[in-house]
Amino acid sequence: MTNEELCLRAIDAMDLAYVPYSGYHVGAALLCEDGTVYTGCNIENASYTPTVCAERTAFFKAVSEGKRRFTRIAVAGGKDGQIVGAFPPCGVCRQVMSEFCEDSFEILVIRSKTPLLYDVFTLNDLLPLRFSPSYLK
Ligand code: THU
Repeated sequence: MTNEELCLRAIDAMDLAYVPYSGYHVGAALLCEDGTVYTGCNIENASYTPTVCAERTAFFKAVSEGKRRFTRIAVAGGKDGQIVGAFPPCGVCRQVMSEFCEDSFEILVIRSKTPLLYDVFTLNDLLPLRFSPSYLK
């Protein structure tokens, strides 16, 4: 799975977003170390706070299927499904990533569909000095 293929899976996942309140469609595609891919979209709620982000949907799908080791995630988002720039992961999603991923885990932040443009960050770039499971040993 190339970075470009993973990005296209994330962009496709935007179509399934359930976003009656914000109108922001977000899609994520998570590559597991074994080569499998789990996609996710954001799922909003009339009570607002139960809303879950696309990244966490992808992680929770994967973890609930027994996956624990991950290589990278691609993320895309935008109002009414239009990607007009980067839509980076929120802090809560970064913390969920930190539960399962090493510092070197890669986050591909898509900023354009055509042409396909994305920036690559590591988890350490986006969440330095993170509170990780190692502190609870
Ligand atoms: N959202 C995500 O899906 N991922 C993020 O990392 C940032 C925010 C969603 C939540 C909400 O449905 C919409 O984008 C606007 O905040």
